Amino acid sequence: MTSGNGAGEARDDPYFYFRHLAVSLFPNDVRLGLNLGLFRTFAIPQIAKTLASTGKMAQFPRARAKATGAMMYTLIRDGLDGPSGSDTIRALNRLHNGLSAQDHHFTYVLSAFCVTPMEWMQRNGVRGPSGNEKDSSYAFYADLARRMHMKNVPESYEALASWMTDYESHNFSTSPEGAELYMATRGLLSARLPSFLRVFGPRFTDALLDPSLRKALGVEDPGIATRLTLRTILEVRRRKHLRLSS
Ligand code: HEM
Repeated sequence: MTSGNGAGEARDDPYFYFRHLAVSLFPNDVRLGLNLGLFRTFAIPQIAKTLASTGKMAQFPRARAKATGAMMYTLIRDGLDGPSGSDTIRALNRLHNGLSAQDHHFTYVLSAFCVTPMEWMQRNGVRGPSGNEKDSSYAFYADLARRMHMKNVPESYEALASWMTDYESHNFSTSPEGAELYMATRGLLSARLPSFLRVFGPRFTDALLDPSLRKALGVEDPGIATRLTLRTILEVRRRKHLRLSS
C-alpha cells in the first residue's frame, strides 16, 4: 500500500495513478462512474437476472450500493494484497462462487467498472483521464481479475474498452429485471444533488445515461430541459476548475 504521491511511488506502484485519481483528485467522478458502470450491467439481461435474484438491490438499494462502493474503495485504497485487500477478495470470491454466470459476464462487469469512470471523465469531467491513469486503472482491474480467477481478460485498457463497446452492441437488451433494478436504484444519485436541482428528481439520473443504455433499461428520454441543465452544470463546473487551476 502507498499513500504519498512521489515520482518514486508512481514508478514502483502500478495502481498509483488510478488510486490518486480515485481517492484524491476526482473521487466524486470516479464514484459516479462506478455507479454508472453498475447501471450498465443492468442492461445485460442475464446479469440483471442474477443481481435481481437476491432481491436485496431492489429492497435495500442504498445499503447495497454503499456496500459495493465500500468494497471497491477498500481495494483501491489499500491495494489487493494487504490484509484488508485479501479479506475483501476472499469475500468477493465466496460471494460470486456458484453464481450462474459465464466468463463473458465477469469480463463485462470488470470492463464496466474499469472503463465507465474513465469515459465519464472523458466526456463530462473537468478533464479527461491521462494515458497513465487509464493504464493504471487497467492494471488494478486486471490484477483483481486474476485474483477472481477470471480468464480471457483483454490485454490492455484500449482492448478492454473496445471489447466492452462490441459486447454492448451485441448484448444490451431490455429485461424486466434490468428495468426493475434501475428503477430501484436511480434515486440514489439524484438524492445527492443540491436542493435546487432536486426539482428534476430522478430524471436527472436518466440524463446521465446514453441513449443505448436508456433504451435497454426502458427509460424515457428525460427531455431537453433536463439534458441542457445537466450540460450547463457540467460546463460551469469544468470552467470553474480550469479558472481555479490556472
Ligand atoms: C469482476 C467482476 C465483478 C466484480 C468486481 C464484482 C463486484 C461485486 C461487489 C463489490 C459486490 C458487493 C458485495 C457486498 O456488498 O457484499 C458484488 C455483489 C454481487 N455481485 Fe458482483 N462483481 C463482479 C461480477 C459479477 C457478475 C458477473 C455477477 C452475475 C452475473 C455478479 C453478481 C453479484 C451478485 C448477485 C451480488 C450480490 C448482490 C446482492 O447483495 O444482492 N457479480 N459484486
